[in-house]
Amino acid sequence: MWFFSRYLTAATLTALLIIVPRVASHPSLESRASCFPGGGAILSAFQKPSQPRSSWWCPASQQHGFLGFSYPMENSNCSDPSNQFAKINQDFQRMKAQFGATMVRIYGPECRNASVWQNLLQAGIANNMAIIPQVWWGFLADQDLWKLTAASIISVLRNNPIAPYVFHSIAFGSEPIGDDVDNGPTQFVSDLKAFKANVSSFGVPVTISEDWDRPGIMSGQNWTGLGPVGQQIAPVIDLVQAHIMPYYHADLFPTAANIWPYFEQYIPFLQANLPNKQIMVSQTLWSSELGGSHDRGFGNPGENLGNFTLYWDTIQSMCSYFKQHQVGWFFHTWDDSQEPGLGLIDDNGNIKIAFDPPKC
Ligand SMILES: *[C@@H]1O[C@H](CO)[C@@H](O)[C@H](O)[C@H]1NC(C)=O
Ligand SMILES: *[C@@H]1O[C@H](CO)[C@@H](O)[C@H](O)[C@H]1NC(C)=O
Ligand SMILES: *[C@@H]1O[C@H](CO)[C@@H](O)[C@H](O)[C@H]1NC(C)=O
Ligand SMILES: *[C@@H]1O[C@H](CO)[C@@H](O)[C@H](O)[C@H]1NC(C)=O
Ligand SMILES: *[C@@H]1O[C@H](CO)[C@@H](O)[C@H](O)[C@H]1NC(C)=O
Repeated sequence: MWFFSRYLTAATLTALLIIVPRVASHPSLESRASCFPGGGAILSAFQKPSQPRSSWWCPASQQHGFLGFSYPMENSNCSDPSNQFAKINQDFQRMKAQFGATMVRIYGPECRNASVWQNLLQAGIANNMAIIPQVWWGFLADQDLWKLTAASIISVLRNNPIAPYVFHSIAFGSEPIGDDVDNGPTQFVSDLKAFKANVSSFGVPVTISEDWDRPGIMSGQNWTGLGPVGQQIAPVIDLVQAHIMPYYHADLFPTAANIWPYFEQYIPFLQANLPNKQIMVSQTLWSSELGGSHDRGFGNPGENLGNFTLYWDTIQSMCSYFKQHQVGWFFHTWDDSQEPGLGLIDDNGNIKIAFDPPKC
């Protein structure tokens, strides 16, 4: 409220008081009460909302608990049905109708064409859901492919003025530090800054989707402060998309029976070391089958439906913790056809567990 103290005179104060009733019915103030996504604001087909982006989105403090699904798109053939509007739209519809999802976090998009972002944008609008695009390196020898993805996301932003009202934020890489992409952190941080500068005119926040529990790199030892790479990244990112994954610490968490203390250590660590930034758990997971798409290591204990069920029951039961800490989370992943064992939906289209995350 700097302008009050700096510029307010008695005359303007009187003027302000007189126009109060009109200010109260101003569209941008009304829409703050009905915000996007999940707060009543409705996207209309390819028509940009009239208000500024800053008043369109629900505040971070409201985006807690279950937000939606992590949605792998790992087929590089842009003509494959998984990259087409019809299939994406069908999945979005079901996510929303059956589970109350309001956002979709895109994961591992191997199609490098603008077509996939255009299809996602269209499906987001059709279902009134928000999307988090991702710039993805991938594991092929050609480590420059990400540039095609970055350019295709930017072209969709440029060609669709509505896109910043559908794209919540953009993840520049998923575990880019863990995977040591871009010839290492020095080049990566430089490209992160360049990408952020390139999308700044669209107002879409930029972050990385990463595990911050990497002692000596992202974090300090024993959860003491940030590590050297974490320190370089922290000032650049607009929000936090954290991978909180006891699954990959099978030595500490052989089963899903006692995973919650890990979250209770991790989330306050993020809050203390990345202050004043929205926190989302963009990736958290468990496998319902031995030998699914991701090994745990340490002999792969607990990869079964019982532990998968217990894991998601535990996360679902912590609604008040997520609310108190203002942290949202995504279920990784939507469907077993995307990443075997991790999906909520099995290969026959059935729901594997009782999933009805409370809104609290
Ligand atoms: C990729 O985009 C180009 C245009 O930029 C288009 O000609 C081509 O058909 C697209 N490929 C697929 C598979 O969608
Ligand atoms: C890509 O997908 C389309 C549609 O399923 C298919 O017709 C085409 O053969 C695929 N291309 C390759 C190279 O697999
Ligand atoms: C940023 O934009 C410039 C100019 O279009 C382009 O050359 C560069 O590759 C872009 N970099 C990133 C990281 O998006
Ligand atoms: C981490 O904490 C444990 C127990 O508090 C201690 O034994 C260990 O030396 C610490 N490690 C480092 C690297 O500080
Ligand atoms: C978790 O997996 C272990 C095997 O690693 C098994 O003994 C245990 O019963 C499982 N827990 C549940 C709740 O099914």
